[in-house]
Amino acid sequence: MERELALEFARVTEAAALTSARWVGLGDKEAADDAAVTAMRVMFDTVSIDGVVVIGEGEMDEAPMLFIGEKVGLGVPPQVDIAVDPLEGTNLVAKGLNGAIAVLASAPVGTLLHAPDIYMDKIAVGAECKGRVFLDAPVKENLRQVAKALDKSIREVTVVILDRERHQGIIEEVRSVGARIRLISDGDVSPAVAAAYENSGVDILMGIGGAPEGVITAAALKCMGGDFQARLCPEGENEIRRCHEMGIKDVRQLFKIDELVKSDDVIFVATGITDSYLLKGVRYVKGRAITHTIVMRSASGTIRFIEANHCLDKKPLFKDKRITLTME
Ligand code: FBP
Repeated sequence: MERELALEFARVTEAAALTSARWVGLGDKEAADDAAVTAMRVMFDTVSIDGVVVIGEGEMDEAPMLFIGEKVGLGVPPQVDIAVDPLEGTNLVAKGLNGAIAVLASAPVGTLLHAPDIYMDKIAVGAECKGRVFLDAPVKENLRQVAKALDKSIREVTVVILDRERHQGIIEEVRSVGARIRLISDGDVSPAVAAAYENSGVDILMGIGGAPEGVITAAALKCMGGDFQARLCPEGENEIRRCHEMGIKDVRQLFKIDELVKSDDVIFVATGITDSYLLKGVRYVKGRAITHTIVMRSASGTIRFIEANHCLDKKPLFKDKRITLTME
């Protein structure tokens, strides 16, 4: 994929962040999500790709835009798979909490896992820990390995876990070896990405979250040389059927990072909506808005942060009201 695409994608996540940021703290997660989805969809129409959404807002009949199978882009080469989460952390925006991002990943067509919106058990680490931690290994052993790889004591290892009843067992195991825990209320993509970034304050993410978010995380970690392993957690016949329909034969398969993202030519882009481990949220200064975006390409391994200072009155898509920044 052309490296210029990375900047085009950054405009897409910036637009989603700019629009959903208007809803921070207003208690309306649907409206915040709608705003992000609309902005992302409109901006995609300006991008030079022949894209198909493989991770999106749901099936065609349940999502008006960015549904799985929807074509996006100008319809010109390259042909790419697109994974999107226009607003990762809807509750976080509704409540004005940290950790919300607008995010997308892209890879050559046919190379991103098509995952249904069900749960997935995940483990994410940075490059130093690659090959040392395993989804099926005991929690304590993984933490010992992380400490060793990062040359720190186990008490200095920071684990991020979604604050859910289902994680009580993992939380107790982590506490039993004295590692530090950051429990988060939502949004496991951003801390998983942070785990692969030196000095972010996060060393490992563990636990069960959304499968679509898992594929997006795998794309990021592929760009960063980190590691990600996962297993789907289908509940009931219906979810198993949906896995089969998406081409996943063995629903209990352990997915390694290269099975979730089969290409070495991946682009990952995320813009902060509220502050998170790596990204500042959208800020407003004298009629302008400032966004903070991370852009990564696996082909080059470059991790780039873009701080953009937007003059909202002059942005063409905002000006002609195809994307609205108000709450009308
Ligand atoms: P949204 O879809 O509301 O943005 O939520 C995102 C998220 O918190 C993910 O980051 C996480 O993987 C998943 O939901 C966890 O699901 P649940 O809230 O059902 O435990």
